[in-house]
Amino acid sequence: MKKTLAIVLAALMLIGMFSFASAEAKTYKVGVSIYQFTDNFMTLYRNEIENYFKSLETDDVKYEITMADGKNDMAEQTNQVRTFISQGMDVIILNLVQTSSADAVIDEIVAAGIPLVLINREPLAYDADGNTLDESYEGILNNAQVCYVGADARQSGTFQGEMVAELENHGDINGDGKISYIMIEGDPENIDAQYRTEFSVKALTDAGYEVECLDDQVGNWDQTKGQELCANALSKYGDAVEVVFCNNDAMALGASTAIIAAGRKVGEDIYLLGVDALEEAVQLVKDGEMTGTVLNDHIGQSHAAVDVAVKLLNGEEIENYYWVDYVKVNKAYVDAQ
Ligand code: GAL
Repeated sequence: MKKTLAIVLAALMLIGMFSFASAEAKTYKVGVSIYQFTDNFMTLYRNEIENYFKSLETDDVKYEITMADGKNDMAEQTNQVRTFISQGMDVIILNLVQTSSADAVIDEIVAAGIPLVLINREPLAYDADGNTLDESYEGILNNAQVCYVGADARQSGTFQGEMVAELENHGDINGDGKISYIMIEGDPENIDAQYRTEFSVKALTDAGYEVECLDDQVGNWDQTKGQELCANALSKYGDAVEVVFCNNDAMALGASTAIIAAGRKVGEDIYLLGVDALEEAVQLVKDGEMTGTVLNDHIGQSHAAVDVAVKLLNGEEIENYYWVDYVKVNKAYVDAQ
């Protein structure tokens, strides 16, 4: 009888200890909204957000992540943000569909007292005429619990241009004294697209080379669109096209297909540049089928975003801006890896 009692008591104590331990584990609710799930680069980025949060879990701290697809629709994303607020998220990570809606969204999240980490699409400061200012955005600067984590797209554009300037013929294949290029742009509202377009060419003109833009089209970061636009430009301008600048690798992969279909050969009669360093693009650089790409460090950026989210959850002070460097990826770089 005594023995049974002792066993029952011991079991009760164990249950008690167990419930005490699990009562101590804290689960933070994290709401993440990505502008569009089908985007190649943002898919790598969002998967790493989840992996990294999981890797930071301990017996005492858990993260419950809700990942929402903005479907490239700002109204849809605004609804997701409102749902996050009503669900009482402890922190929100947001990849805006439209950076021009940043004010409205930030205001609602700040009013609800939820800390916010903006990623990948940087909201901009504008002057009264709507021109982009080279200044930090007040909606971020004025809020101690709001920050932006990203990469400076000017650097990626500059690297693209430099990789052309560093070629033996500086991209002037036909020797007519100018570099004739086509530009395939991402979403034109997006600062990454604007800066890459501007700074890739600026790196060439700054280095003293003459350039000629044969065609400049919007491919919205999309592979199929990149292929279509490059195929059109190649059939219209033929051998005159010496350099194909794509604002990202997805579009460059499409352009590569178009280049091969047109019977052209990268490194011999055409050059092709992208940004992101997607695995497929790095392979093309290695095989000599792409001139270069630029590493858009999704690991560094996702980790920085999660680290600052965790700081906010712990009530620690944060910076308003966190920058992650790009890296130039040409054949020499890939071969040295
Ligand atoms: C860029 C990236 C693109 C696309 C875009 C979405 O940084 O290079 O591939 O993901 O972000 O905003």
